[in-house]
Amino acid sequence: MTKLILVAGARPNFMKIAPLMHALKNHPTIQPILVHTGQHYDVKMSGQFFDELNIPTPDINLEVGSASHAVQTARIMEGFEKICVEEKPDFVLVVGDVNSTAACTLVASKLGITTIHYEAGLRSNDRTMPEEINRLVTDAISDVFITTSKDADDNLLKENIPAHKIHMLGNLMIDSLVENKTNIDTANARFKLLNEDKEIELGKDFMPQKFGILTFHRPGNVDDKESLTKLVEIWGKASELVPLVFPVHPRTYKNIQLFGLQEVINQYKQLYFIEPLGYLSFIHVVENALFALTDSGGIQEETSYLNIPCLTVRPNTERPVTIWEGSNKLITIDDILNEITLIVEGKGKKGTKPHFWDGNTAKRIVKLIENL
Ligand code: UD1
Repeated sequence: MTKLILVAGARPNFMKIAPLMHALKNHPTIQPILVHTGQHYDVKMSGQFFDELNIPTPDINLEVGSASHAVQTARIMEGFEKICVEEKPDFVLVVGDVNSTAACTLVASKLGITTIHYEAGLRSNDRTMPEEINRLVTDAISDVFITTSKDADDNLLKENIPAHKIHMLGNLMIDSLVENKTNIDTANARFKLLNEDKEIELGKDFMPQKFGILTFHRPGNVDDKESLTKLVEIWGKASELVPLVFPVHPRTYKNIQLFGLQEVINQYKQLYFIEPLGYLSFIHVVENALFALTDSGGIQEETSYLNIPCLTVRPNTERPVTIWEGSNKLITIDDILNEITLIVEGKGKKGTKPHFWDGNTAKRIVKLIENL
């Protein structure tokens, strides 16, 4: 039996790990061991994703929790080294670009275990983003590179990774979307508001195609008082053009309270702040939205697949294929109102699906591992 450790740590990892775990179920020659680092630990940030995406309970949970980057990374490394020494896996597979990804790659690589990075080669070329550091570190020492688009292959080649180690196999997040289509379409669409004791319902309080979905959590946008204050004001003004639904990330919500911005939000009746959603309800809201306004990485990909205009408020993206081929557009805070006006007038950006974003990526990855 080939022993394969798969690492999941934070929310955006779970929809990438789920289709792999399903494709590996009852595999005759590969034994999967699922390790959750515990980087995300709330039911809303972690547990409900395991339930809804039908991910088996992790074999091991390191329960590292929140801490500074260095402390969190160190805790993961300490815990994960023990597991690797005990389990002696043939392969470690990490996904994405979170602290858990880089930490486990460092451990496995130093123990001489073949490390596979799914979502390798993405580059924003912006080292102020913690994720970019994680990507660079992970790709510098991984052994096998699975990419989601051709630009990622080119980035790796430029960094002198030999071509035979790079495999463009498509997008696992799209596998999750395809696998769960029916449950997404019928998912719960009643949500509790965060700032008042009231529920709102899609189809009643805000109509399909007549609202935008909002998500913001990047430290660069929400950790700085000035930047978050400006954003909150623009969200408010934008919500007067079209209702906005915002499942708020804990990091953003904490800072809204800390900087005393709740009062501003309360003034806008069409700015709906709701708690973080599970996977099915979240994608249900996205697929019914007129557009997304975000600073997330994954949502740029999901909206491209669903062909829903996405306004990404960032100076760069590590996922340029969503701009070249998909429905994504990079904008500044000052462009938000104009861009939303264009979308409301029916002039939103549309695109096509990138190659291999087709629901079969997990199968291709399992085949690759069988042949390693
Ligand atoms: C992490 C990832 C980021 C990813 C994001 C998705 C890194 C460097 N960043 O950022 O790439 O886009 O996840 O969510 O790995 N918290 C909770 N409950 C939780 C988890 C976090 O309340 O389950 C709070 C904690 O107080 C924490 C804060 O949210 O301090 C931020 O969490 P953290 O994991 O540090 O980073 P994210 O911003 O979530």
